[in-house]
Amino acid sequence: MSNPYDRPSWRGKRVLVTGGAGFLGSALCHELAKLGARVTAIDAMMPDGGASLANLEGANCLLVRGDIRDVELHSLCQGVDVLFNMAAQTSHMGGQKDPVADIAINAVAQVRLVQVMREVAPKATVVHASTRQFYGRPISLPVDELHPVNPPDANGVSKWAGEQYWLLESRVLHRPVVSLRLTNCYGPRLRIRDARQTFLGIWIRRVLEGEAFEVWGGEQLRDLTYVDDVTEAFIRAAECASQPNVNGQVFNLGGAPPASLLELAERLIAANNGHGSFLTKEFPADRAPIDIGSYHANDHAFREATGWSARVGLDEGLRRSLDWYRERLTDYL
Ligand SMILES: NC(=O)c1ccc[n+]([C@@H]2O[C@H](COP(=O)([O-])OP(=O)(O)OC[C@H]3O[C@@H](n4cnc5c(N)ncnc54)[C@H](O)[C@@H]3O)[C@@H](O)[C@H]2O)c1
Repeated sequence: MSNPYDRPSWRGKRVLVTGGAGFLGSALCHELAKLGARVTAIDAMMPDGGASLANLEGANCLLVRGDIRDVELHSLCQGVDVLFNMAAQTSHMGGQKDPVADIAINAVAQVRLVQVMREVAPKATVVHASTRQFYGRPISLPVDELHPVNPPDANGVSKWAGEQYWLLESRVLHRPVVSLRLTNCYGPRLRIRDARQTFLGIWIRRVLEGEAFEVWGGEQLRDLTYVDDVTEAFIRAAECASQPNVNGQVFNLGGAPPASLLELAERLIAANNGHGSFLTKEFPADRAPIDIGSYHANDHAFREATGWSARVGLDEGLRRSLDWYRERLTDYL
């Protein structure tokens, strides 16, 4: 069998991961360090997101605690070969409550980063973490990249703006840039303390604590991506970023075939050897106006361009997630 870490192009590469102590950023830091890259993570350790020091335990990388809104960025970005740009204000309700703080991180700080990168790392590749959120309530499924952008909330507006500033860098200055529009991601290092990161976080917690979890609505479709597949997608996007069919592109990233929340709930319990229970509740009235209903991605373009595919099936991913948290539950509560 070939060695999965035999990807010599990463050896010694200088990589900066913004949001590197968060759920997806930390997974990238672990993987890139294993590939031999020199990895720096920058993270403001925001209390409401997925940041955790435990996420970087065992990763051979440097963590700089700092906020991309005001930290000195020149020395951090100097000589960087690849920037994985994961830092964001990710809360939809939070963005509605405080849109100024939301756009300060997701758009204004992005422009700050864009400008510093122009000065000190003009040739670096950038892979930006974007979101399906700004398509809004889909007008047809599955959603491809030509679906109209119709943000349902302030967070969708700011994330769209942030993405567009990075795409300009490719269009105007020919920097290799790729933006991946993610669907719900899950797996080890997800925030499970509450439902702030995704519904699945709190479901995992409740199942492991032997308590019933709540399913809001139930018929909505989701196509979850397991974290290892997300990591592989970001690494591949960087590796392929100079290809003409990849550079400057936005790509949807999907995952497991779509399943309703009710089906996901049943499969989570099955993955926990049949232990667990849930209650169905009406979708909360305060969240309903920004809910996107059912979503699943058409990610054919990304698969075609990079050879990526989702490898971890839903049942396997749920089992792996439960096994991981069973060992470390207290670290994540
Ligand atoms: N997880 C998902 O399902 C999902 C879905 C769609 C898009 N995304 C995007 O992927 C990226 C990573 O998401 P995640 O799920 O890992 O979230 P996360 O909250 O776990 O990670 C984001 C990290 O960014 C850090 N951060 C926030 N503001 C910062 C600032 N001003 N300066 C420095 N660091 C800051 C946070 O402390 C956190 O550690 C985000 O851009 C998000 O919008 C994630």
